[in-house]
Amino acid sequence: MPKVLVLYYSSYGHVEALAYAVAEGARAAGAQVDVKRVPETVPEAVAKSAHFKLDQAAPVATVAELEHYDAIIVGTGTRYGRMTSQMAAFLDQTGGLWMRGALNGKVGGAFSSSATQHGGQETTLFSIITNLLHLGMIIVGLPYSHQGQMSMAEIVGGAPYGATTVAGGDGSRTPSEIDLAGARHQGELVARTAAKIFG
Ligand SMILES: Cc1cc2nc3c(=O)[nH]c(=O)nc-3n(C[C@H](O)[C@H](O)[C@H](O)COP(=O)(O)O)c2cc1C
Repeated sequence: MPKVLVLYYSSYGHVEALAYAVAEGARAAGAQVDVKRVPETVPEAVAKSAHFKLDQAAPVATVAELEHYDAIIVGTGTRYGRMTSQMAAFLDQTGGLWMRGALNGKVGGAFSSSATQHGGQETTLFSIITNLLHLGMIIVGLPYSHQGQMSMAEIVGGAPYGATTVAGGDGSRTPSEIDLAGARHQGELVARTAAKIFG
């Protein structure tokens, strides 16, 4: 049974919701799954005044524990077309793991959220994927086996590079059933890939 970590940062809960859907898919594929978040770096007063969702149940991850997983799926919202500084600050502490090749050959994936449909989801996914490739990981995206990403009937998240949602300019759109299905499917594929490699 592969051990899968869903590691996320979410200011307003959109990526948090995707993270639990990714975890659901990985569990359904037989993996042992933990959902953890990275530390908030914004001062509490700033986070409160910006109405961040501060009541997130997921425990905070440590860099040292990353090597104990067979697969790590990383999710965070877009900031000007790339990953959040909170996630980057966490991943920038993995130098020791990189030096030892501790994550080489592990399975990775990326998921994300943006305010607008073309506001940088794919570049954000690639900013995560680039980081994971440097760490030696094998990337699993969201193939078109998730047919929902082709819908023209409604706004949908999801790209071949990873599951996404569109939050809206005011954050009022919550992940749709299609977005969540994409996240579940990616979680399932990551878990199945890790099971093939690690048993
Ligand atoms: C400083 C900042 C920069 C942002 N840049 C973008 C952007 O380039 N494109 C976009 O569509 N949304 C942008 N957003 C919106 C966030 O991506 C959005 O709030 C986030 O995806 C919601 O996910 P969350 O609830 O998990 O935090 C930005 C938000 C902030 C605070």
